This record gives sequence, C-alpha cells and structure tokens, in this order.
Amino acid sequence: MIIAANLKTNFTRTETREYIEKTEIFIKETKTTQEVLVFPAMSSLDSFDTKLIQGAQNAYPTIDGAFTGEIGLKHLEEFGIKTILIGHSERRHIFGESQEELVKKFNFYKDLGFKIVYCVGEPLEKREAGNTAMMEYISSQYEGIDTEYENLIIAYEPVWAIGTGLTPTFEDIEEIHTALKKKSLASLLYGGSVKVTNAKDVLAIANVDGILVGSAALYVEHFCNMISFAEELSVTDHPVKSQKNSNIYPNKE
Ligand code: PGA
Repeated sequence: MIIAANLKTNFTRTETREYIEKTEIFIKETKTTQEVLVFPAMSSLDSFDTKLIQGAQNAYPTIDGAFTGEIGLKHLEEFGIKTILIGHSERRHIFGESQEELVKKFNFYKDLGFKIVYCVGEPLEKREAGNTAMMEYISSQYEGIDTEYENLIIAYEPVWAIGTGLTPTFEDIEEIHTALKKKSLASLLYGGSVKVTNAKDVLAIANVDGILVGSAALYVEHFCNMISFAEELSVTDHPVKSQKNSNIYPNKE
C-alpha cells in the first residue's frame, strides 16, 4: 500500500530532516514493504538518501524562467525529486488552479516520467447536491488526465473532510472508490482527516490502496503507526480486504 504524508506549510528544513530521518529509521527497522511518500514544504526540499520517497507539493510546468514565486524542474532535479502532487484541493480552491492549468502541469511532469499523485474530491455543496451531481463534479476533475499513465496515483480527498476532522462513512468511501476504480485502475488513496485512530479501518476498505495524510502525519509516531497498519493488513492478507477486493470491477467508463 501507499502511505503518504502531505506536510503542507509546516516544518522548517531542519524539522523536516528530523522527520524524514525518524521515518526512515522506522522503515528500515521494521523492514516495511509499504511505499512511503513524504511531501515537504517547498523550502524544506533537500537531498535524502532514503527508501522513502520525497515528493514536491507543487511545481510549475517549466524547466526554469520568469515565474515569480514558483519552482520548476531544475529545482526538483537538484534534489533528485521525481514525484509530485498535482490538483490538491488547496491548490484548486485557495490558489484557484483551474483544470486546464492542472492538465498542463500533469502533462509536463508526465512527459518527464514523474510519479504523479493526482487529487480529486468534491466540496460539501456538491456532496449535498446528491450522488449524480457529486460524481459529475469528480468526473470533471479527470478531464484531460491520462488515467492510464503508468506512474499515476490518484487520491480521493473530499474537500469538506480535509483538515476538519470529518470523514465520509466507510461505506461511502468504499462506494466512491469502487466507482472511481472504473475510471482508472491507478492506485487510489483516500485522504481527508485520516488519523491514527481511523487509519487501519480506512486502509481495510475495498479499493483503498493507501492514504494521503495531512495534519495527523505531522506526528511522526502517528505516521509510522499508519505505515505499520498497512503492513499488518498486507502481511495478514486481511480477510475483509481480500474478500472485498474480489469486488473490484476493472471496467472503465
Ligand atoms: P488532512 O489533510 O489529513 O489534514 O485532512 C489531508 C490532505 O490535505 O492531503
């Protein structure tokens, strides 16, 4: 499974290094087979010789140039970064990144072979407007995206669940993930108020291939616990998960 920490605008360079070092020690000591991704703040990106993968929370679709306040490919290459988060709801809603801009960014980094964690998810009013409106909204976030890209990971993160302590019911997550798997067979993460107290249950849901964690991942022990939960579910071949996984419906619409 994939366990990802989005550190957002938290942690200095020194704090980030400590965080990554502690997580790496945990990964080595426990010999976890899970894929661990960490997305530090822009100014905390650095060179790490680790099994865990460092990714960028954002970058402009350019090698370099006149784009004040942005970083480009050169700045990622300096640290050997080949993983990027695209379409996070905070980029879409706070910074107003349009689907068109996200597609440009997606294609630029796709052509370079980056691992892309592409985020989708509905705001509260779309969820309240009913299933059809909600799924139409989420579908519009797939427009222009190569859903068959081999290095694609999708994260479903309902906007209203991010940083709020609210989550959909496990049944809702399963239903939406099952629907989204019909759009793309890429690994599908759930994100939005995942905590150490609900992570194991979320990871056990059918068609959940991992989690993208914000606030709760800031506690390195909690983040490491979540890696352990994924490991436990993988090695014990969790009966509920394996039984539910047989329901994966691999057709695409
Ligand atoms: P949260 O954030 O875990 O704090 O809800 C998740 C995210 O924004 O990726």
